[in-house]
Amino acid sequence: MALRNSRIVGLGKHLPAKVVTNADLTRVMETSDEWIQQRTGIRERRYIDQDTGAAELGAAAAREALDRAGLRADQMDLILFATLSPDYDFPASACVMSRLLGVRGRAAFDVRNQCSGFVYGLAIADRFVKTGRAQRVLLVGGEVHSTGIDLSTRGRDVAVIFGDGAAAAVIAAEPDPSRGILSTHLHAQGKYAEKLWLEAAASRSRPRLSPDMLEGAKPRIFPYMDGKYVFKHAVTRFPEVILEALSANGCTVKDLDLLIPHQANLRINQMVAMGLELREEQMFNNIDRYGNTTAASIPLALYEAVEAGRVREGALVCLAAFGAGFTWASALIRW
Ligand code: UT7
Repeated sequence: MALRNSRIVGLGKHLPAKVVTNADLTRVMETSDEWIQQRTGIRERRYIDQDTGAAELGAAAAREALDRAGLRADQMDLILFATLSPDYDFPASACVMSRLLGVRGRAAFDVRNQCSGFVYGLAIADRFVKTGRAQRVLLVGGEVHSTGIDLSTRGRDVAVIFGDGAAAAVIAAEPDPSRGILSTHLHAQGKYAEKLWLEAAASRSRPRLSPDMLEGAKPRIFPYMDGKYVFKHAVTRFPEVILEALSANGCTVKDLDLLIPHQANLRINQMVAMGLELREEQMFNNIDRYGNTTAASIPLALYEAVEAGRVREGALVCLAAFGAGFTWASALIRW
């Protein structure tokens, strides 16, 4: 059977209404608007203000993406949910979201690859469509960080960065081989697993959760990040994986209309832009308003870039991610 391409035919987003500014954070920890903006480019982020899981945020984003694609949830052959903050340890948030969308009997699973989760999910969706195993795939990136970070001075280096949110894409078959997802490129290196991780509750500990995990300078129930170490790897891996995607398709940086990098830190993205000699209009960032929403950050930025008229039909768009694992990935798309 001849392989065909896949294409994003609808995008959606959903952000909790509660805006948390840097000034708001100064009320719960020793930090400053100046420090956060200078080091990260973040001005504000969103937090859920009641018990809402990642699946609920994802379902709202999915409904918009489906509407825009002119499709119903029960027309999806596969449902993927990229997240590092699933509603439950198990079952998958993809299953919980399927219930919210009223879908029954469709394949659904989570992609647990943190900041690279959306691009990994896109690669899976693309393969399912390409090989004819699926006609239409719903891919959601959704995160609730605010219930899992240490909102005190002790945890400020990590806590100020993250925000809640979700975004979704509907992916469908595209008969024109020159359009849609041209290629995806996935990488991982477990050597650095503990440089950016959430240790507890963990199946390697007996019991999985114990009071000592809540104590100490860096309680193990909160995410830990060796920020400088992660930063250094990110600014190397991003250009590598972007150039890999371009060269795999016989393109150069000059051909690129828009780069949508994961939104972890504006400084990382500025260094990547400088290294690749990108013009300002070749990169899209929205971290100032949402912080780092991990698996949701790329589809959220893609959604807003399209809304802002920055992605015209026929544009060459590169998505690029780097995060815990370490994992890094890219996708090249002819819009
Ligand atoms: O999405 C996953 C991938 N993640 C990333 O790519 C993140 C990569 N790393 C980073 O973005 C940066 O490393 C951070 C923004 C997390 C931290 O910036 P940094 O320039 O590496 O700061 P640092 O952690 O080395 O801390 C510098 C100083 C320290 O004080 P001293 O020891 O110099 O007195 C910290 O205690 O800043 C202090 N600090 C803060 N001050 C005010 C750390 N966090 C804060 C804070 N507010 N929130």
